Amino acid sequence: MNENRYLTFALGKGRLANKTMELLEEIGITCEEMKDKDSRKLIFVNEELKLKFFLAKGPDVPTYVEYGAADIGVVGKDTILEENRRVYEVLDLGYGKCRMCVCGPKSAADLLRHHEMIRVATKYPNIAKDYFYNKKHQTVDIIKLNGSVELGPIVKLADVIVDIVETGSTLKENGLKVLEEICPLSARMIVNQVSMQMEPERIKKLISDIRGNWPEKPYNIGM
Ligand code: PRP
Repeated sequence: MNENRYLTFALGKGRLANKTMELLEEIGITCEEMKDKDSRKLIFVNEELKLKFFLAKGPDVPTYVEYGAADIGVVGKDTILEENRRVYEVLDLGYGKCRMCVCGPKSAADLLRHHEMIRVATKYPNIAKDYFYNKKHQTVDIIKLNGSVELGPIVKLADVIVDIVETGSTLKENGLKVLEEICPLSARMIVNQVSMQMEPERIKKLISDIRGNWPEKPYNIGM
């Protein structure tokens, strides 16, 4: 291990980053600089522990980790599946739990059942493609949107959507239902493949400290 080398974390901005800093605090890793909510700084340092943290848009986190700009990342499983980067996924952190689903009006259930050529609106075109083409063997037209995907079926842009469902209230308030479940999702820790070779003790200690201390009992996915 190189004592002078910083270990850099890329965290998905927002709730995920806050929850992750809580988790790290439990095992004695803090970053005072990050607690100043008015700060416009992009990168934060803990000199004593030789750690750096930066906040990034969720879909960029696996990119930073694949290229080694960050050694470690915390991001949703949805993003990992969609971005399909060469990184090690080492821990299921157990928070940020939700599901990736095919949703739409009740009437769209028949279109799915009969493998009709339907239009699918989604922020996750790769996940949708993999599900419909490789798992269901159904040819569909996938339309990429950047948010408020539930609008798709309402304004007749698409028959169904592929999207995240957490509480289900967005669907309910817009008259839509879960029609099929694709997979469960939660926050994951990912590691750069070279960093794992260069800093195995430091990274493995971090993983085992998190597993031992976090009440939601993250489980090891493997490397
Ligand atoms: C996500 C997702 C759903 C909603 C699901 O959207 O895309 O719209 O949350 O949560 P619920 O089941 O608890 O209602 P987000 O808030 O990230 O915004 P977006 O629609 O702009 O992607």
